[in-house]
Amino acid sequence: MNVHAPTFFVPPRPAAPTKELGLYRFLVAARTNALQIWPKSAYEQDAVVGSAFGRTRMLINAPDAIHRVLVDNTANYCRTSATIRILRPIVGKGLLLSEGEDWRHQRRTIAPAMAPRVVPMIARHVALATEETIAQVAALAARGPVDILATVQFLALEIAARSMFSLEMRQYGAALRRLITRFAASLGRPYFLDLMLPAAIPTLRDLARMRFRSRWVAFMDEIIAARLRAPPDGRPHDLFDMLLAARDPETGEAFSRAQLRDQMATMIVAGHETTALTLFWSLYLLASSPADQDRVAAEVRAVDLGPDAAADALAKLPYTKAVVNEALRLYPPAFTLARMAVGPDRLGDVAVPRGALIMISPWVLHRHLRLWKDPDAFNPARFLGDAALPHRFAYMPFGAGPRICIGAQLALTEACLVLATMIQRFHVALADATPVLPAAVIVTQPDHAAPFRLRPRN
Ligand code: HEM
Repeated sequence: MNVHAPTFFVPPRPAAPTKELGLYRFLVAARTNALQIWPKSAYEQDAVVGSAFGRTRMLINAPDAIHRVLVDNTANYCRTSATIRILRPIVGKGLLLSEGEDWRHQRRTIAPAMAPRVVPMIARHVALATEETIAQVAALAARGPVDILATVQFLALEIAARSMFSLEMRQYGAALRRLITRFAASLGRPYFLDLMLPAAIPTLRDLARMRFRSRWVAFMDEIIAARLRAPPDGRPHDLFDMLLAARDPETGEAFSRAQLRDQMATMIVAGHETTALTLFWSLYLLASSPADQDRVAAEVRAVDLGPDAAADALAKLPYTKAVVNEALRLYPPAFTLARMAVGPDRLGDVAVPRGALIMISPWVLHRHLRLWKDPDAFNPARFLGDAALPHRFAYMPFGAGPRICIGAQLALTEACLVLATMIQRFHVALADATPVLPAAVIVTQPDHAAPFRLRPRN
């Protein structure tokens, strides 16, 4: 035995079924915990191909096949009916669900607003909101265990609201969270007919989704009206200012008011829960691996994370960044990307018929036995400068190709700065021994709100 071999924390994960699930169990797992859809063999093979009601569905793991779907032949792979049906009420006609020329126009127009030059503006919002939340958390921590999931969800929403609208969410936060949580708990889950029917045929659940949409649109319009009442001073303060001023570089076209609302809704929904969960899992992993927590604590001890210094601090946080990358590997918030084949194609040896459902699962890829050494172990050093980078299509928490996440830079900025600040201020530990398991419903969340003990650091 090599006495110097490091021992890594191996977090628990849901058991994979020993063989492929039949249709009924597949649909139940899709609604309750989609991480249990894939059989053990999926973590070793290039593809898993099945069919239901004459429709082919396939999970692809081979880098070349993923490259073809997400980069080389994107025109042949569109969003699925189920994705459109479930997300349309909340993201409307924003970037996430658009296709073709409409998508290109939206992406060209938004991209400059998300470029690295906005990082200092975002970093300032992050630092200010984090300072305030930490003051509240310190008071709670003095009284007993803290619900870290609720804390990071609150903070991520606050940061989203400030980076997008410069608004504090005291007035709107509770209502916003209520609307999103209610949606996620029922209307946002895929049901049998959602998965089986084309998007053009509405189901009873779609009628409820339409009612939700009217409430949601009215609410977003109210926030935007409040934002517009703030007197302009000629300087961009937030992403709303950037998108209001944005023009398509090819056509000069601006967004209409309705388009602007859908973009803002898209970003709030796509961005805040995903980033909150990245933070939750990063803190959970550090609480479970004291040596890694000590290393982050040493790295952040003397770093100024205040609003004026936060953007420059990012370059001083390589280990913190590696922890965030590793948390995104072990718990990718977007656990599956789904596409429908518009026409026939070929992915390596596998023929793709028209209408096939193609799934690319960061959850499976990130734990694939052929792509990673010790895939279940928490080892942030995989992402340090001198480590060999994983294959481009073995690690894709933000997707890949032209539709790669447009908010990735902002999410990483936020996650690194908040994690660094939390560990600078507190020693974090789990308050009980109940295993924390990931459960994927819309995003990869913990199966319960694990309590944490936070002890202030000197
Ligand atoms: C850790 C946090 C995040 C994760 C893990 C994540 C993950 C992803 C993934 C995997 C995709 C590609 C989906 C696909 O190809 O089907 C995506 C797309 C997208 N994300 Fe994110 N995201 C995060 C944060 C954000 C933030 C902060 C924003 C906005 C401020 C955002 C906005 C979007 C949008 C608008 C798209 C659609 C892009 C397009 O279709 O062109 N995301 N995200």
